[in-house]
Amino acid sequence: MNDKPVLVIGATGHLGRAVVANLLQSGHTVRAATRDPEQAGDLADGGVEIVRADLTDRVSMERACLGVGSVIAAAHALTGRGKNGTQAVDDQGHRRLIDVVREAGVEHLVYVSTSISTPDYPVDFFRIKYATEERVRASGLSYTVVRGAAFMESNVTYVGQGLFSGGKAMIAGRGDVPSNYVSVRDVAHFIALALSEPGLKNRTVEVGGPAELTLNDVIDVYEGVIGRPIKRTQVPIPVLRIMAAMIGIVHPGQGRLLRLVAESGRRGFAVDMAPLLSEYPHDLTTFEQVIAESFARQ
Ligand SMILES: NC(=O)c1ccc[n+]([C@@H]2O[C@H](COP(=O)([O-])OP(=O)(O)OC[C@H]3O[C@@H](n4cnc5c(N)ncnc54)[C@H](OP(=O)(O)O)[C@@H]3O)[C@@H](O)[C@H]2O)c1
Repeated sequence: MNDKPVLVIGATGHLGRAVVANLLQSGHTVRAATRDPEQAGDLADGGVEIVRADLTDRVSMERACLGVGSVIAAAHALTGRGKNGTQAVDDQGHRRLIDVVREAGVEHLVYVSTSISTPDYPVDFFRIKYATEERVRASGLSYTVVRGAAFMESNVTYVGQGLFSGGKAMIAGRGDVPSNYVSVRDVAHFIALALSEPGLKNRTVEVGGPAELTLNDVIDVYEGVIGRPIKRTQVPIPVLRIMAAMIGIVHPGQGRLLRLVAESGRRGFAVDMAPLLSEYPHDLTTFEQVIAESFARQ
């Protein structure tokens, strides 16, 4: 095991927290980057070194990268605006990060992208993420690009909490388009593996969950866990697009998120985990497990 710390950027996020937990469990020394160390008090209590750093501030990133062995880039600004918008963070911030990582002599960079990042996805964030993947691949650094499916834990935070407390489900379109959902625990598992497995170096891997589910399937799972029917309201995709454009005028980040919701109601995606699991066997977490654990914590 490399004695140098692993820097986790985005350590306070859904995935970042799972990555920190996994790395600590496997005996790594962890340095967590956050713009607000107060959010990371529990990480500090768990033995993690906290560093104040912002992807929009080069000096802070240089300080964060000093002396680390590996960097996990797991931050994003999908819903950010202005100085913390997607251009500043996901585009410029990550261009800067690649330079800083190279100059600091870091041994390995893991960049977290998404399964839907392509050069022509209709939401700019995902085009930017794809372009960043390409920069990482061309950087000359030792790297792993991890393309994650939709995070189950994010769904539980932004959809599930409302459903747990009696809310209705809003379905984009007819809710009949299947997409893949993954637990951040499983993404964190493959990120940690990328630090030690030579076979995961200089490689782009898709990390998805055990199944593709439609929005209606997902609500069925919530109903099973909560034990009561959930009222569903279908919102037509064109209506969501208009709402996204209007909200985007006032708050580009929230408009972008709504545009993503609209697009996900129209086009799904699948992740075939069989090849990766045959190389690196691992039990994938089910959506039911994640929802049930979260519901039990209410
Ligand atoms: N959510 C999904 O469904 C999903 C699916 C596939 C891939 N991903 C990718 O997985 C990664 C983690 O996503 P997540 O959903 O777990 O994140 P999240 O919970 O939304 O948290 C976002 C993180 O980004 C950090 N951050 C934001 N602006 C920053 C800046 N200017 N400088 C440094 N850090 C900044 C925040 O840190 P502080 O506030 O502490 O500074 C926070 O830890 C991202 O790359 C995302 O694109 C997400």
